[in-house]
Amino acid sequence: MSDPALEIRGCTSREELEEVVSLCDAAFPKTSREYFARHVLKDRTLAPADTRILVKDRNIVSSVQVFPRTMYCRGEKIGFGGIGNVATLPSEREKGYAGSVLRDALEYIRDKKLPVSLLTTTINPYYEKFGFQTIRRHVVQTEFPRAGEQPGVRTFDRDRDLDRVIRLYNRFNVQFVGTLVRDVEYWDSQLEFCDEDKSLFYVHETEGELRGFIRAIKKPDHVQVLEYGFAGNQQGTLPGLFEHLAWGAGERRLKMFASDTERPYLSFGNGDSVSADTDMMVSIIDPGLNPEVRDTLRRDYNLTFWLTDFF
Ligand SMILES: CC(C)(COP(=O)(O)OP(=O)(O)OC[C@H]1O[C@@H](n2cnc3c(N)ncnc32)[C@H](O)[C@@H]1OP(=O)(O)O)[C@@H](O)C(=O)NCCC(=O)NCCS
Repeated sequence: MSDPALEIRGCTSREELEEVVSLCDAAFPKTSREYFARHVLKDRTLAPADTRILVKDRNIVSSVQVFPRTMYCRGEKIGFGGIGNVATLPSEREKGYAGSVLRDALEYIRDKKLPVSLLTTTINPYYEKFGFQTIRRHVVQTEFPRAGEQPGVRTFDRDRDLDRVIRLYNRFNVQFVGTLVRDVEYWDSQLEFCDEDKSLFYVHETEGELRGFIRAIKKPDHVQVLEYGFAGNQQGTLPGLFEHLAWGAGERRLKMFASDTERPYLSFGNGDSVSADTDMMVSIIDPGLNPEVRDTLRRDYNLTFWLTDFF
C-alpha cells in the first residue's frame, strides 16, 4: 500500500478502539454493537495494538483484530493468533483495504512468534488467498425426550465455584487439540466478554466435590452448548448436566460443536443428528512448526474449540 494518505498500524488509544467498535457495527448489520463493545473493549487480555487498523484521512476505515492465545495440543502448548472482527466500512470496500490489514495482522502474529492462526468465517475463499485452510467440525444436535431438574446440579456461583471450575477445566482440557490455556486473568475477562446466558452456566456438585460444568446460550429454537467439562472419571455427570440445561432453558433441542475426541462423551441416543461445519480455518504461520503438530491442527474433526472463547 503506497498511498501516503493511508496508514496501517495497531490502535494506540481507547478512543481508537471505540472507533473500531463503530466501524464493526457499521460493517456487520446483523450483529449488535454491544457484541463488538464486548470483544473489542472488555477483553482485558488484549493490548490496543492487537487491533490492527487502516487509517485514511484520519478515519479508521478497515480493521482486523488479533487475539493472542495459547492452545493445548495433546499436552503441548501452542501459541496462536486468533483473527476476528475483519471489517471495512461499506463505502470503502473493494479497494484492497481488508486484505492489507489482514496481511499486517499476519505479520504482527509472526512478529509475536505465534506459529499458528485461527479464524471463523463464512467467506472461506477470501481467506484461502491468505494461506488459511478450512477444518471441519461436527455439529451435534440432540433432542431430549424429556428434560427434568437433576440432583446435584445448580447455577454457577462465581465466588464459590470459579477456582474449582478453573482446576477442573485445566485437567479436562489438556487432552484436547485447540482448547485454550486460560489463566485467571483470562477467566476474569472471558466471564465478561463471553456471549453466554449466566443463568445457563451450571455446575454439578455432590459430596462437596465439583464434578462437572456446562455453559450455554439460548437461541430461538435450540440451546447452543458453549462448553462443558467434567472431573477425572466423572463422565457420568454429563447426561445429567445436559438434561438439566434443557430443563433450565425450557428447550429440549441442544446443539454443539464437537471433535472426534469428544464424540465418545456425547452419545445421547438415536435422536442425535450430526452434520459438518466448515466455518473454522487454520493457517500455519511458522513453517518450522513441528510437522506432527502441523498435521494435527490441519486435520478435520480434530479441533475442540469452546464457543466461550469465541473471537
Ligand atoms: C469482507 C470485507 C472485510 C472485505 O473488505 P474489503 O476491504 O472490501 O476487502 P478487500 O478489498 O481486501 O477484498 C475484497 C474481496 O473480498 C471479497 N468479499 C467481500 N465480501 C465477500 C463475501 N461476502 N463473500 C465472498 N467474498 C467476499 C470480494 O469478492 C473481494 O474479492 P477479490 O479480492 O477476489 O476481488 C468487507 O466486505 C466487510 O466488512 N464485510 C462485512 C463484514 C464481514 O463479513 N467480515 C468478514 C467476517 S469473516
